[in-house]
Amino acid sequence: MSETPITLDESAVERTAVRLLRSSVERSYDPVVDIDWDAPDVPGLRYVPDKYISLYGTKIFDQLTEEEKIQLGRLEASALASWGILAESALMHPMLKLASVSDPRSATAQYALTEVADECRHSVMFGRQINTLSDRSYDPPMIARALVGATALAPLSATIFSMMLMVEEILDRLQRQTMNDETLQPRTRAIAKIHVIEEARHISYARVALNRAVEKTGRARLAVERLIVAAGASVVPLVMVQPAVYRDAGLPPLRTAWAALRNPHYHANLRFFGERLVRVMDEANMIEGQLVQYLWRRSRMLPVDFVPRSAKAAAA
Ligand SMILES: [Fe+2]
Ligand SMILES: [Fe+2]
Repeated sequence: MSETPITLDESAVERTAVRLLRSSVERSYDPVVDIDWDAPDVPGLRYVPDKYISLYGTKIFDQLTEEEKIQLGRLEASALASWGILAESALMHPMLKLASVSDPRSATAQYALTEVADECRHSVMFGRQINTLSDRSYDPPMIARALVGATALAPLSATIFSMMLMVEEILDRLQRQTMNDETLQPRTRAIAKIHVIEEARHISYARVALNRAVEKTGRARLAVERLIVAAGASVVPLVMVQPAVYRDAGLPPLRTAWAALRNPHYHANLRFFGERLVRVMDEANMIEGQLVQYLWRRSRMLPVDFVPRSAKAAAA
């Protein structure tokens, strides 16, 4: 019997899917067995570098003892893992949709399903991680959970692939810093490493898919999509500031949240985490228009001297 060809068209997206399917075979992990979940924590090592804690650099942070700083980082890492699980559910919906509308013999369909499988393993990994970090989970707000349902209904579009990149590029930036940091717990580093390696494929795919979606979208609709994406970016600073985390760390929740949101070190971290995302979005012409740029500035991720590509081209 002859083998069924899985490559049905030669588009950039399909070619990318062929390459990523090959990489998935070569470099995939099963965190349930590849991570030592029973190993005890190493005393004195951290769960997140101090400099990435939302309060780093504030008076409140400076007054904490060494142990309290480690505990605060531990709870923030737990809260971030909860966000990670929610975001991955949101990202799986469009990939399942992509698989269901594609020819099942195509690399695109098979890659989409492979990415969903990656995200399923990641969500289990983050769930286990939460168990090792805190006595409770810090569930993202109701509104965020409701929006995950909306991603199941949303069309495959520039908006969807931008949102994917927003999650994946930001996490990638943070986890690349943590995976080799020897001041961190070995399990924290192992989780970051698995996620970085497997998410690199997702990022490659989403970038190609975003550029394709932008090319195929009319001007008026793209203007609306840019606004939706910018609105999503504008709430990113709220993600790592969770009053419940501060309360459990023994701090006054609202006053501390306010201090974190105004913390210049936190703003600098957001710029660092968003650096590559902003570049990719700008290259895809997704940061155009006054209101869009205002919302991106609210995200705190734009470089201080940011000038969109379109403006540079117009000035040249
Ligand atoms: Fe993931
Ligand atoms: Fe992903």
